[in-house]
Amino acid sequence: MQITLIRPDDWHLHLRDDEAIKSVVAHTAERFARAIVMPNLKPPVTTTAMAMAYRDRILSALPHNSDFTPLMTLYMTDRLTSDEVIVAKKSQIIKGIKLYPAGATTHSDAGVTDIRKLYPVLETMQREGLPLLIHAEVTDPDVDIFDREQVFIDRHLRPLTRDFPALPMVFEHITTRQAVDFVRANEGTVGATITVQHLLYNRNAMLVGGIRPHYYCLPILKRESHQSALIEAATSGESHFFLGTDSAPHPQHAKECACGCAGCYTAHAAIELYAEIFERANALDRLEGFASLFGPDFYGLPRNRDTITLAKKKWSIPESYQFGQDRVVPLGSGESVNWQLVR
Ligand code: NCD
Ligand code: ZN
Repeated sequence: MQITLIRPDDWHLHLRDDEAIKSVVAHTAERFARAIVMPNLKPPVTTTAMAMAYRDRILSALPHNSDFTPLMTLYMTDRLTSDEVIVAKKSQIIKGIKLYPAGATTHSDAGVTDIRKLYPVLETMQREGLPLLIHAEVTDPDVDIFDREQVFIDRHLRPLTRDFPALPMVFEHITTRQAVDFVRANEGTVGATITVQHLLYNRNAMLVGGIRPHYYCLPILKRESHQSALIEAATSGESHFFLGTDSAPHPQHAKECACGCAGCYTAHAAIELYAEIFERANALDRLEGFASLFGPDFYGLPRNRDTITLAKKKWSIPESYQFGQDRVVPLGSGESVNWQLVR
């Protein structure tokens, strides 16, 4: 059995920098035509000039003959100005500005400390129609890690959608039923990406029988009822839910240690794993909308014209892949996948 889809895009991706880009971008470029590239480098990508230079580094790391377009983002800090927003919009290469609450996740220490201080900048983004991409988790030490997304909805997303009713927002990597409900209640301006790992697993995968660091990402995997809500949303055919892998490679030693960092690497088999999820939910006919149509529609970009084909044919995921000078352990390492990209 085979399925052919309009070539998909990845609306949330980490490519890192330097040598590491080369090791991971080929996996994405084989499967996806475009990807929204996250700006959480060290130092973060905060200006259009930095994003253009980063884009050039990505393009030169691509394998020959690959036809892949990185869509760039800026990292919002307390110091972002309306002038920079206007420059970004004019450049046509910046497709969104990413809001990381300070300290929420990997490389987010330069993130926003108080969103209200950025209201003038958000006004400009709304006027220019430049989407706000949100890592929606509070960082207060007194909020339980499993509740950080739903608390962010009440404390920050409700006010934001009330105060900026025409600002396009992407609620990134949603992980809870509350997030699904919020996106539905704000359809039209709010879209959401859903990752492979949050559809495939719940927190048991990470914690039962031993701590498994390769399932640790942020927002953290939640309980099974949330996983079911995400599967239902992704396979619903509703256009506000679309594909974003949040593939976030880290060197093996940085994850397999006493304080392992957050991020799952999924670029090696992303569309294949989504196919598996949709097949299991009896919704393969809805994969194309989720993977290839709703994202570009939300961002106001043309849909792709070429296609990819997946064959139902088992293959084994390697234990690890090259990652710069290191190795990265992919999601599903050593396990098998039922769908294979036809090359
Ligand atoms: C991401 C990373 O490693 O850059 N990690 C993650 O767990 N998702 C950052 C992010 O998107 O939160
Ligand atoms: Zn991410």
